[in-house]
Amino acid sequence: MLVSVRDTDWDGVRLHVVTGKGGTGKTTVAAALALALASNGKPVLLMEVEGRQGIAQLFDVPPLPYEERRVAVAPADDGRPGGDVFALAVDPQSALIEYLEMFYNLRQAGRALTRLGVVDFATTIAPGLADVLLTGKAAEAARRKVNGSPVYGAVVMDAPPTGRISRFLNVSSEISGLAKVGPIRELKDVGNGGIQPGGIMVNMVRRSLTQLGGGDNADGHAAALEVALKAAGLGEDAKLAADLAAELADEARTEKTQSAQRRTLEAAGQPCYDLPLIADGIDLAALYRLAKALREQGAA
Ligand SMILES: Nc1ncnc2c1ncn2[C@@H]1O[C@H](COP(=O)(O)OP(=O)(O)OP(=O)(O)O)[C@@H](O)[C@H]1O
Ligand SMILES: [Mg+2]
Repeated sequence: MLVSVRDTDWDGVRLHVVTGKGGTGKTTVAAALALALASNGKPVLLMEVEGRQGIAQLFDVPPLPYEERRVAVAPADDGRPGGDVFALAVDPQSALIEYLEMFYNLRQAGRALTRLGVVDFATTIAPGLADVLLTGKAAEAARRKVNGSPVYGAVVMDAPPTGRISRFLNVSSEISGLAKVGPIRELKDVGNGGIQPGGIMVNMVRRSLTQLGGGDNADGHAAALEVALKAAGLGEDAKLAADLAAELADEARTEKTQSAQRRTLEAAGQPCYDLPLIADGIDLAALYRLAKALREQGAA
C-alpha cells in the first residue's frame, strides 16, 4: 500500500483559533478549515463561542445544543475517506455546570445553582469567568482521549473578533491560577506560550479580471472595448463601452489595493493562505471548495 505523508504547516497543532474583524469570514473560514483538517481522516470539532448559531446556519442544520453533533463529512482525500466534522455551540452557563460536574462532582449543586440563578449571575458578573469557561472547554475537547487516543484530530474555534481576542485568550492564564484541577488549571500552560499566532487567511480574494492591460485608466480600456463589442456583434456603442471601461478601471483599482495589502501581509512573516471570493454565496459545496484551496496550500 502506498502511504503518502502530507507536509502541512500545522502538524501537531490540535487547537486552531480563528479570529479576524467582524464580518470578514471567521465562521466561514473556521468551517472550511475544519473540513480541510478532517480530510486527514480523523474527526474534527468546530466550536462557536458567541451564541450566534452561525455554524448551524452555515451547515443548514437546526440550532446546536450544548452537545457535539455531526454536521458534515469531509471530502475523501487520496482515496481515503474523510473524517466527520462535529460542531458545538458553547455557552458559559452550560460550560460552568459541566465544569462543576466533571471536576467537583457537583451535579446536583450545579442544577440547584442554575435554579437559583447563580450560574447566570456568576457568568454575567464576571465576564472573565465566561471567557475562561469557553476557552477551557476548547482545551478540554482538544485534549480529550478515549483509550489513550485523542477523540479529535483537531479542534477549530470560531472565536470572537480581533478586538476582543487577546483578552479572551489572556484572561484564561490569569484566572486559571484560581482553579485547583481540570482544564481551567491547565489553561495556564496554554497562556504561557501554548498559543501562538498561526497562519493568515486572506479571505474573499478576487480573481484578476484586468490583466488585459490598460490598468485603472478608463480611457485606456474604452477604445479596445468598443472594438470588442463590435466584433461580438453588439454594434457600435460608445456609451456602453465607456460604462464598461469605467467598471474595469474600478476593478483594476481594487486589485491594486488587494495586491498592496497582500504584500503587507506577506511581510508579517506568517504563512498566508488565499481563499477565493465565491460569487454564488456560501453553501456546503462552496465550503468544500474553500477546504480544498486550504489543503492545496498546505494549511491542513
Ligand atoms: N470566500 C467567500 N466568498 C464569498 N462570500 C463569503 C466568503 N467568506 C465569507 N463570505 C460571506 O461573507 C459574510 C460574512 O462571513 P462570516 O459570517 O463567515 O463572517 P464572520 O467574520 O464570522 O462574521 P461575524 O463577525 O458577524 O461573526 C457571509 O455572508 C458569508 O457567506
Ligand atoms: Mg461569525
